[in-house]
Amino acid sequence: MRTVLITGGASGMGLAIAARFAEGGDRVVLGDIDTARLAEAGAALGPAATTVHADVTRPADCAALVAAAVAAGDGLDVVVNSAGVWVEGPTAEASEADFDRTLAVNLKGPFFVCRHAVPALRESRGCIVNIASDAGLVGNAGAAIYSASKGGVVLMTKSLALELAPMGIRVNAVCPCDVATPMIEFQASTYGQGDPAGYKANLLARYPQGPRARFATPQEIAELVYYLASPAAAPITGAALPIDFGLTAGY
Ligand SMILES: NC(=O)c1ccc[n+]([C@@H]2O[C@H](COP(=O)([O-])OP(=O)(O)OC[C@H]3O[C@@H](n4cnc5c(N)ncnc54)[C@H](O)[C@@H]3O)[C@@H](O)[C@H]2O)c1
Repeated sequence: MRTVLITGGASGMGLAIAARFAEGGDRVVLGDIDTARLAEAGAALGPAATTVHADVTRPADCAALVAAAVAAGDGLDVVVNSAGVWVEGPTAEASEADFDRTLAVNLKGPFFVCRHAVPALRESRGCIVNIASDAGLVGNAGAAIYSASKGGVVLMTKSLALELAPMGIRVNAVCPCDVATPMIEFQASTYGQGDPAGYKANLLARYPQGPRARFATPQEIAELVYYLASPAAAPITGAALPIDFGLTAGY
Protein backbone atom coordinates (compact mmCIF):
# COMPACT_ATOMS: atom_id res chain seq x y z
CA MET A 1 0.00 0.00 0.00
CA ARG A 2 1.45 3.38 -1.01
CA THR A 3 1.24 6.41 1.26
CA VAL A 4 0.17 9.60 -0.49
CA LEU A 5 0.43 13.06 1.12
CA ILE A 6 -1.93 15.71 -0.27
CA THR A 7 -1.87 19.35 0.81
CA GLY A 8 -5.13 21.23 0.38
CA GLY A 9 -6.76 17.82 0.68
CA ALA A 10 -9.91 19.10 2.35
CA SER A 11 -11.44 20.69 -0.75
CA GLY A 12 -11.71 20.81 -4.50
CA MET A 13 -8.94 19.11 -6.46
CA GLY A 14 -7.04 18.00 -3.35
CA LEU A 15 -10.11 16.15 -2.08
CA ALA A 16 -10.81 14.57 -5.48
CA ILE A 17 -7.16 13.50 -5.71
CA ALA A 18 -7.36 11.96 -2.23
CA ALA A 19 -10.53 10.09 -3.23
CA ARG A 20 -8.88 8.79 -6.42
CA PHE A 21 -5.84 7.42 -4.60
CA ALA A 22 -8.00 5.93 -1.82
CA GLU A 23 -10.17 4.25 -4.46
CA GLY A 24 -6.97 2.80 -5.95
CA GLY A 25 -6.11 1.21 -2.60
CA ASP A 26 -3.59 3.77 -1.35
CA ARG A 27 -3.33 5.31 2.11
CA VAL A 28 -3.93 9.08 1.96
CA VAL A 29 -2.74 11.78 4.36
CA LEU A 30 -4.53 15.10 3.97
CA GLY A 31 -3.04 18.38 5.21
CA ASP A 32 -5.12 21.56 5.32
CA ILE A 33 -5.95 24.61 7.44
CA ASP A 34 -9.72 24.15 7.10
CA THR A 35 -10.50 22.06 10.17
CA ALA A 36 -14.20 21.57 9.43
CA ARG A 37 -13.72 20.46 5.82
CA LEU A 38 -10.79 18.29 6.88
CA ALA A 39 -13.04 16.42 9.33
CA GLU A 40 -15.72 15.97 6.63
CA ALA A 41 -13.10 14.68 4.18
CA GLY A 42 -11.71 12.25 6.74
CA ALA A 43 -15.20 10.91 7.47
CA ALA A 44 -16.02 10.57 3.77
CA LEU A 45 -12.76 8.81 2.88
CA GLY A 46 -12.85 6.36 5.81
CA PRO A 47 -10.01 4.45 7.43
CA ALA A 48 -7.63 4.86 4.47
CA ALA A 49 -7.38 8.57 5.34
CA THR A 50 -5.42 10.47 8.00
CA THR A 51 -6.06 14.18 8.42
CA VAL A 52 -3.54 16.70 9.73
CA HIS A 53 -4.08 20.37 10.46
CA ALA A 54 -1.15 21.98 8.66
CA ASP A 55 -0.54 25.50 7.39
CA VAL A 56 1.84 25.13 4.45
CA THR A 57 3.06 28.71 4.86
CA ARG A 58 4.84 27.49 8.00
CA PRO A 59 7.88 25.30 7.25
CA ALA A 60 7.51 23.66 10.69
CA ASP A 61 3.99 22.56 9.74
CA CYS A 62 5.32 21.20 6.41
CA ALA A 63 7.89 19.14 8.33
CA ALA A 64 5.25 17.90 10.80
CA LEU A 65 2.89 16.98 7.95
CA VAL A 66 5.58 14.93 6.22
CA ALA A 67 6.46 13.25 9.52
CA ALA A 68 2.78 12.41 10.11
CA ALA A 69 2.54 10.88 6.64
CA VAL A 70 5.66 8.78 7.17
CA ALA A 71 4.31 7.66 10.56
CA ALA A 72 0.88 6.82 9.13
CA GLY A 73 2.30 4.18 6.87
CA ASP A 74 5.55 2.63 6.01
CA GLY A 75 7.33 5.61 4.46
CA LEU A 76 6.07 8.07 1.88
CA ASP A 77 5.53 7.36 -1.82
CA VAL A 78 3.70 10.31 -3.38
CA VAL A 79 3.43 14.01 -2.52
CA VAL A 80 0.74 16.16 -4.13
CA ASN A 81 0.90 19.91 -3.49
CA SER A 82 -2.64 21.17 -4.08
CA ALA A 83 -3.11 23.84 -1.37
CA GLY A 84 -3.49 27.22 -3.02
CA VAL A 85 -5.21 30.59 -2.94
CA TRP A 86 -6.39 32.93 -5.67
CA VAL A 87 -6.02 36.70 -5.75
CA GLU A 88 -6.69 39.13 -8.58
CA GLY A 89 -7.11 42.83 -9.21
CA PRO A 90 -5.28 45.79 -10.74
CA THR A 91 -1.59 45.76 -9.85
CA ALA A 92 -1.76 49.47 -9.00
CA GLU A 93 -4.14 48.53 -6.15
CA ALA A 94 -2.35 45.39 -4.93
CA SER A 95 -1.34 45.09 -1.28
CA GLU A 96 1.88 43.70 0.13
CA ALA A 97 -0.24 41.36 2.30
CA ASP A 98 -1.88 39.80 -0.77
CA PHE A 99 1.51 39.34 -2.42
CA ASP A 100 3.08 37.75 0.66
CA ARG A 101 0.12 35.46 1.42
CA THR A 102 -0.23 34.23 -2.17
CA LEU A 103 3.45 33.51 -2.63
CA ALA A 104 3.60 31.89 0.82
CA VAL A 105 0.73 29.46 0.18
CA ASN A 106 1.29 28.78 -3.52
CA LEU A 107 5.10 28.68 -3.76
CA LYS A 108 6.82 28.65 -0.38
CA GLY A 109 4.44 25.92 0.84
CA PRO A 110 5.12 23.45 -1.98
CA PHE A 111 8.85 24.15 -1.70
CA PHE A 112 9.01 23.32 2.01
CA VAL A 113 6.76 20.28 1.69
CA CYS A 114 9.11 18.99 -1.03
CA ARG A 115 12.17 19.95 0.99
CA HIS A 116 11.03 17.91 3.99
CA ALA A 117 9.75 15.00 1.88
CA VAL A 118 13.01 14.36 -0.01
CA PRO A 119 14.55 11.87 2.47
CA ALA A 120 11.43 9.68 2.58
CA LEU A 121 10.89 9.90 -1.19
CA ARG A 122 14.50 8.91 -1.75
CA GLU A 123 13.82 5.73 0.24
CA SER A 124 10.70 4.87 -1.76
CA ARG A 125 11.94 6.21 -5.11
CA GLY A 126 8.69 8.14 -5.02
CA CYS A 127 7.29 11.13 -6.86
CA ILE A 128 5.88 14.62 -6.47
CA VAL A 129 3.00 16.20 -8.39
CA ASN A 130 2.51 19.96 -8.01
CA ILE A 131 -0.78 21.59 -8.96
CA ALA A 132 0.27 24.68 -10.92
CA SER A 133 -2.14 26.39 -13.37
CA ASP A 134 -2.60 27.62 -16.91
CA ALA A 135 -1.60 30.91 -15.26
CA GLY A 136 1.81 29.35 -14.61
CA LEU A 137 2.35 28.81 -18.34
CA VAL A 138 1.01 32.03 -19.84
CA GLY A 139 0.39 35.49 -18.43
CA ASN A 140 -2.94 36.32 -16.85
CA ALA A 141 -3.98 39.99 -17.11
CA GLY A 142 -5.23 41.14 -13.72
CA ALA A 143 -3.66 38.27 -11.80
CA ALA A 144 0.08 39.05 -11.82
CA ILE A 145 0.62 37.86 -8.25
CA TYR A 146 -1.14 34.52 -8.77
CA SER A 147 0.53 34.02 -12.14
CA ALA A 148 3.96 34.74 -10.63
CA SER A 149 3.33 32.18 -7.90
CA LYS A 150 2.30 29.46 -10.38
CA GLY A 151 5.07 30.29 -12.85
CA GLY A 152 7.38 29.81 -9.88
CA VAL A 153 5.84 26.39 -9.21
CA VAL A 154 6.47 25.35 -12.83
CA LEU A 155 10.18 26.20 -12.76
CA MET A 156 10.61 24.90 -9.23
CA THR A 157 9.13 21.61 -10.51
CA LYS A 158 11.59 21.41 -13.40
CA SER A 159 14.55 22.30 -11.15
CA LEU A 160 13.59 19.67 -8.57
CA ALA A 161 13.06 17.08 -11.32
CA LEU A 162 16.66 17.55 -12.42
CA GLU A 163 18.09 17.66 -8.91
CA LEU A 164 16.17 14.64 -7.61
CA ALA A 165 16.38 12.41 -10.70
CA PRO A 166 19.62 10.77 -9.52
CA MET A 167 17.72 9.72 -6.36
CA GLY A 168 15.00 8.09 -8.44
CA ILE A 169 12.42 10.76 -7.54
CA ARG A 170 10.17 12.10 -10.30
CA VAL A 171 8.68 15.61 -10.08
CA ASN A 172 5.92 16.92 -12.35
CA ALA A 173 3.35 19.70 -12.42
CA VAL A 174 -0.14 19.75 -13.84
CA CYS A 175 -1.49 23.02 -15.18
CA PRO A 176 -5.28 23.03 -15.08
CA CYS A 177 -7.59 25.60 -16.61
CA ASP A 178 -10.63 26.70 -14.63
CA VAL A 179 -11.90 23.81 -12.55
CA ALA A 180 -15.31 23.56 -10.90
CA THR A 181 -14.21 23.79 -7.25
CA PRO A 182 -14.94 26.11 -4.31
CA MET A 183 -12.04 28.29 -5.54
CA ILE A 184 -13.95 29.24 -8.70
CA GLU A 185 -17.04 30.04 -6.61
CA PHE A 186 -14.86 32.20 -4.36
CA GLN A 187 -13.41 34.01 -7.38
CA ALA A 188 -16.85 34.62 -8.89
CA SER A 189 -18.42 35.87 -5.66
CA THR A 190 -15.42 37.97 -4.57
CA TYR A 191 -14.37 39.49 -7.89
CA GLY A 192 -17.55 39.22 -9.97
CA GLN A 193 -18.83 42.70 -8.98
CA GLY A 194 -22.17 41.25 -7.95
CA ASP A 195 -22.52 39.09 -11.07
CA PRO A 196 -20.89 35.71 -10.36
CA ALA A 197 -22.59 34.07 -13.35
CA GLY A 198 -21.21 36.80 -15.62
CA TYR A 199 -17.74 36.34 -14.14
CA LYS A 200 -17.85 32.62 -14.93
CA ALA A 201 -19.23 33.26 -18.42
CA ASN A 202 -16.30 35.62 -19.07
CA LEU A 203 -13.88 32.87 -18.06
CA LEU A 204 -15.53 30.38 -20.41
CA ALA A 205 -15.54 32.89 -23.28
CA ARG A 206 -11.74 32.48 -23.51
CA TYR A 207 -11.91 28.78 -24.44
CA PRO A 208 -11.59 27.51 -28.03
CA GLN A 209 -14.69 25.29 -27.64
CA GLY A 210 -17.02 28.27 -28.05
CA PRO A 211 -20.51 27.65 -26.67
CA ARG A 212 -19.53 24.10 -25.65
CA ALA A 213 -16.81 25.36 -23.30
CA ARG A 214 -17.03 24.13 -19.73
CA PHE A 215 -14.93 24.03 -16.58
CA ALA A 216 -12.88 20.89 -15.99
CA THR A 217 -14.01 18.71 -13.10
CA PRO A 218 -11.76 18.00 -10.10
CA GLN A 219 -12.08 14.31 -10.94
CA GLU A 220 -10.59 14.90 -14.40
CA ILE A 221 -7.56 16.58 -12.81
CA ALA A 222 -7.31 13.79 -10.21
CA GLU A 223 -7.14 11.16 -12.96
CA LEU A 224 -4.08 12.85 -14.50
CA VAL A 225 -2.38 13.18 -11.12
CA TYR A 226 -3.08 9.50 -10.42
CA TYR A 227 -1.57 8.54 -13.77
CA LEU A 228 1.54 10.68 -13.16
CA ALA A 229 2.09 8.84 -9.87
CA SER A 230 1.77 5.42 -11.52
CA PRO A 231 4.58 3.18 -12.80
CA ALA A 232 3.28 3.77 -16.34
CA ALA A 233 4.50 7.37 -16.06
CA ALA A 234 8.09 6.33 -15.27
CA PRO A 235 9.57 8.30 -18.23
CA ILE A 236 7.73 11.49 -17.27
CA THR A 237 9.60 13.93 -15.07
CA GLY A 238 10.15 17.68 -15.24
CA ALA A 239 6.90 18.09 -17.17
CA ALA A 240 4.34 20.86 -16.71
CA LEU A 241 1.30 19.30 -18.34
CA PRO A 242 -1.58 21.52 -19.44
CA ILE A 243 -5.02 20.04 -18.79
CA ASP A 244 -6.95 22.96 -20.15
CA PHE A 245 -9.07 22.26 -23.27
CA GLY A 246 -6.34 23.94 -25.34
CA LEU A 247 -6.56 27.25 -23.47
CA THR A 248 -2.76 27.68 -23.48
CA ALA A 249 -2.17 26.11 -26.92
CA GLY A 250 -1.98 29.45 -28.69
CA TYR A 251 -4.24 32.02 -30.31
N1 LIG B 1 -10.06 25.91 -9.38
C1 LIG B 1 -9.37 26.34 -10.43
O1 LIG B 1 -9.95 26.85 -11.40
C2 LIG B 1 -7.88 26.17 -10.49
C3 LIG B 1 -7.26 26.24 -11.75
C4 LIG B 1 -5.88 26.01 -11.85
C5 LIG B 1 -5.15 25.75 -10.70
N2 LIG B 1 -5.77 25.72 -9.48
C6 LIG B 1 -4.94 25.38 -8.32
O2 LIG B 1 -5.34 24.09 -7.89
C7 LIG B 1 -5.09 23.96 -6.49
C8 LIG B 1 -6.35 23.45 -5.81
O3 LIG B 1 -7.35 24.46 -5.93
P1 LIG B 1 -8.90 24.15 -5.76
O4 LIG B 1 -9.58 24.72 -6.93
O5 LIG B 1 -9.09 22.74 -5.39
O6 LIG B 1 -9.21 25.14 -4.54
P2 LIG B 1 -10.00 24.95 -3.17
O7 LIG B 1 -10.15 26.31 -2.61
O8 LIG B 1 -11.22 24.10 -3.37
O9 LIG B 1 -8.97 24.10 -2.27
C9 LIG B 1 -7.77 24.66 -1.83
C10 LIG B 1 -7.48 24.10 -0.45
O10 LIG B 1 -6.23 24.65 0.00
C11 LIG B 1 -6.37 24.90 1.39
N3 LIG B 1 -5.39 25.89 1.84
C12 LIG B 1 -5.37 27.23 1.60
N4 LIG B 1 -4.35 27.80 2.26
C13 LIG B 1 -3.70 26.80 2.90
C14 LIG B 1 -2.57 26.77 3.74
N5 LIG B 1 -1.91 27.90 4.08
N6 LIG B 1 -2.16 25.59 4.23
C15 LIG B 1 -2.83 24.44 3.92
N7 LIG B 1 -3.93 24.41 3.15
C16 LIG B 1 -4.35 25.59 2.64
C17 LIG B 1 -7.80 25.40 1.55
O11 LIG B 1 -8.24 25.33 2.90
C18 LIG B 1 -8.54 24.45 0.61
O12 LIG B 1 -8.98 23.30 1.29
C19 LIG B 1 -4.62 25.32 -6.01
O13 LIG B 1 -3.21 25.33 -5.92
C20 LIG B 1 -5.09 26.26 -7.11
O14 LIG B 1 -4.30 27.42 -7.17
C21 LIG B 1 -7.11 25.91 -9.36
